[in-house]
Amino acid sequence: MQIDINAMSQDIQYKLIASTVVPRPIALISTFGEETGDNAAPFSFFNVMGENPPVLVVGLETRRHDKSLKDTTINIMKNGQFVIHLVDEDLGEAMNICAIDFPPQVNEVDMAGLTMVPSTLIKPKRIVQAPVAFECEKITFLQISPDRNIVVGKVVMMHVRDGLFDPETYYINPEKYHPIGRMFGQLYTRTRDHFTMTVPSYDDWQKTHPK
Ligand SMILES: Cc1cc2nc3c(=O)[nH]c(=O)nc-3n(C[C@H](O)[C@H](O)[C@H](O)COP(=O)(O)O)c2cc1C
Repeated sequence: MQIDINAMSQDIQYKLIASTVVPRPIALISTFGEETGDNAAPFSFFNVMGENPPVLVVGLETRRHDKSLKDTTINIMKNGQFVIHLVDEDLGEAMNICAIDFPPQVNEVDMAGLTMVPSTLIKPKRIVQAPVAFECEKITFLQISPDRNIVVGKVVMMHVRDGLFDPETYYINPEKYHPIGRMFGQLYTRTRDHFTMTVPSYDDWQKTHPK
């Protein structure tokens, strides 16, 4: 089946994109507004685009009902600083509360029963309960359409919950780190079902695939 996605309504385009590119990691983003204070909200149009420097991208849409900019977007546009927290199983319910469209002056993190502490290099605070937090500075901001902005951020500092980092391999230990992924709508997935695959060398490939 071929789908001319650009001929579809925005609602259907969203459903097609959001339900195919899955699972998506969830960025719980904290920002700061001079007039509105601390803010936090989840974003699953999110991923990593580089490591030197470490680059993260987030897709910020406008509010569905009135097309206004979300508080996260306004704060990042104004001061370019944000903390991206990865969301694990323990943080899932609190993340969901942070998605409520509270008025700008309400701190979602308080409502969700989470704790914020000062960041090291930027003004927005970070959430203590998150397994991983990246302090970020905006590299660039792209307006793709009136309803969709993309922020590209550089990680300036990283925080990892004690016990997750493996000093021998330098990886975050997948047996201890349990991020959840967003499928679409209210559907999420866990990331506990690991398996391995090794890319064979070209020589090994030729041995098992003689002409
Ligand atoms: C799991 C999850 C993922 C979300 N992903 C996005 C996203 O990628 N982009 C977006 O604009 N909104 C996304 N939202 C909705 C925002 O979190 C929601 O609009 C929030 O109220 C925005 O808050 P703010 O106005 O404080 O920035 C998501 C919500 C949930 C629960």
